[in-house]
Amino acid sequence: MDPIVNPYSPGAGSPPPELAGRDHIREAVRISIERIRHGNSAKSVIMVGLRGVGKTVLLDKIRLQAEASGNHTVRIEAPESRSLPGLLAPHLRQALLRLARVEGAKALAVRALRALAGFARGLKLKYGDIELALDHEPEPGLADNGDLEMDLGILLEQTGVAAKKGRTAIVLFIDELQYVPEEQFAPLITALHRCAQMQLPVTLVGAGLPTLRGRAGNAKSYAERLFDYPEIGALSPEAAGQAITKPALAHKVRFQPAAVDKIVFKTKGYPYFLQEWAKHAWDVATKSPITEGDVTLASKEALAALDASFFRVRFDRLTPLEKRYLRAMAELGPGPHRSGDVAAALDRKVQSLAPTRNELIRKGMIWSPNHGDTAFTVPLFDEFMKRIIPGDDWRKP
Ligand SMILES: Nc1ncnc2c1ncn2[C@@H]1O[C@H](COP(=O)(O)OP(=O)(O)OP(=O)(O)O)[C@@H](O)[C@H]1O
Ligand SMILES: [Mg+2]
Repeated sequence: MDPIVNPYSPGAGSPPPELAGRDHIREAVRISIERIRHGNSAKSVIMVGLRGVGKTVLLDKIRLQAEASGNHTVRIEAPESRSLPGLLAPHLRQALLRLARVEGAKALAVRALRALAGFARGLKLKYGDIELALDHEPEPGLADNGDLEMDLGILLEQTGVAAKKGRTAIVLFIDELQYVPEEQFAPLITALHRCAQMQLPVTLVGAGLPTLRGRAGNAKSYAERLFDYPEIGALSPEAAGQAITKPALAHKVRFQPAAVDKIVFKTKGYPYFLQEWAKHAWDVATKSPITEGDVTLASKEALAALDASFFRVRFDRLTPLEKRYLRAMAELGPGPHRSGDVAAALDRKVQSLAPTRNELIRKGMIWSPNHGDTAFTVPLFDEFMKRIIPGDDWRKP
């Protein structure tokens, strides 16, 4: 069918035509934000899930919804290379400038901007990537100690005081939160804790890999009480069916039930894969309804597309030994696996592979659901590893 009007959108962060199966979590986060805005207690939210399950698009949707109801938001994505203060400062500035236009909040928002100026000046030496246009001179002693934990606490407090006056909330949306180093994550947790204690309307909606829960706990033991960690996963068969059929219906195109079942089966309900399969099924089909045969034809292309993009970008960032480690894991099945078993498959000692395993965790390729266990962060990565490194040569260095 006409590829020009193909509604599906596989791609990192590409909003799906139908955000299926996420109404419940959207409503829960909406209530949390509104509670915090009204001075009631609610936990901050950190959405955790594997690669490609739809964390980013969900985060963006929740953000739009929060903005539409009059909250002020800050949206950042933590890359591996930049500091949290460096990322946060310019975005918080934008939010505070907007807040300064809110009835009654101007004076306090200006004070928060002065805190921000002190924050940037005080931490400039430590975090060289802080770049900030100064709207106001710093106020001596206000968030300018040069200590992230202290200064971020004061900065968010001032921000909260201004937001409260403006009867709004400041919501920090941070994607890929697992990349924020612990010494920057801990001060953020402390600052949010402080705002919660003072009932100030500042909160976090974060997203990232399942490692986050452990990381937050390591950074601050009370993180468990401060955050909810909703798990974002594969869609139920029903939601997956909606994700496939609804966008087509908007074009008066139908899928045969068997075609839907086949896509759900092939993709195990993982959103990224659903988009890819539905997209190729559409392109392959010559007319409505799209049949099971169309899906069978499309499967080869969908898989090739995934191999060339979704899986490939991850694979290309690996060293030869890291590739062998993941290949050994794949040989053992989807996982999780014991580190000892992976080492044995490579005929190595567990300790000698510990640095490799740690680096793979740091890169976000694997994570540890339980002590000593290792699992892929990318769904179906085991099958990809077997496709890209067939045979047995990987066993030998
Ligand atoms: N609820 C959903 N229904 C249908 N499609 C979805 C849904 N959520 C996400 N998708 C689709 O899945 C793909 C991946 O989404 P997204 O980039 O948000 O995942 P992610 O969890 O952030 O992945 P990563 O961990 O790699 O950043 C996109 O193509 C998006 O359109
Ligand atoms: Mg994402």
